[in-house]
Amino acid sequence: MTAVSTVKIAPSILSADFANLEAEVRDVLNGGADLLHLDVMDGHFVPNITFGPPLVKSLRGVTDAVLDCHLMISEPTKYVESFVKAGADWVSVHVEAPDDIAAAIETIRAGGARAGIVLNPDTPVEKAEPYLDDVGLVLIMSVFPGFGGQSFIPEVLDKVRVLKTNGYGGEISIDGGIAEDTAPQAIDAGVDVMVAGTAVFGRDDRAAAIRALRSSAA
Ligand code: DX5
Ligand code: ZN
Repeated sequence: MTAVSTVKIAPSILSADFANLEAEVRDVLNGGADLLHLDVMDGHFVPNITFGPPLVKSLRGVTDAVLDCHLMISEPTKYVESFVKAGADWVSVHVEAPDDIAAAIETIRAGGARAGIVLNPDTPVEKAEPYLDDVGLVLIMSVFPGFGGQSFIPEVLDKVRVLKTNGYGGEISIDGGIAEDTAPQAIDAGVDVMVAGTAVFGRDDRAAAIRALRSSAA
């Protein structure tokens, strides 16, 4: 029997066709995506470069969908305000960034957006603890950040279980290597949001891809 989960699906535009981004975004939203995941990389915190606030602003102009900005940048404090001003709804910063994370979170919230904290696969869940009262999202990386299309690391799901057991009240998102075969484990661990790049944009029928991620083997 197949059960359909209420987990939110957040396609990562990292795997979209950037030359046709508006059409790509409309396609996944019409296909049932709940929000859009925007991977911001600075070529310093991670060995890859993507885009910044101007692209967020352009997307804000064509959709009311929640824009979930995942900042893989070394100096989030310096830039979070410009992402909020560009129209980001959620802005998440890595605890590993060599910066004042509490200040970044405060600035995001002061701008009226939801602040999130991100943990790399090898970062213990305890590192999130000082911030849990102030963030509405904990993003658990299930690959090392920088690139789409990597293999899911199942051990990180223990962090999801710990957060749930400890009564964390915000949403928990999982990011990296989510596909039809790995999604059931994440759903079972209790995630609220699943980020998926390759598994959605890599398929021609995005609605079918999103449905497949939500359907977990019961
Ligand atoms: C990795 C990014 C992910 C990535 C996911 O640094 O944070 O959001 O786009 O891509 P897939 O789903 O292909 O692993
Ligand atoms: Zn991401």
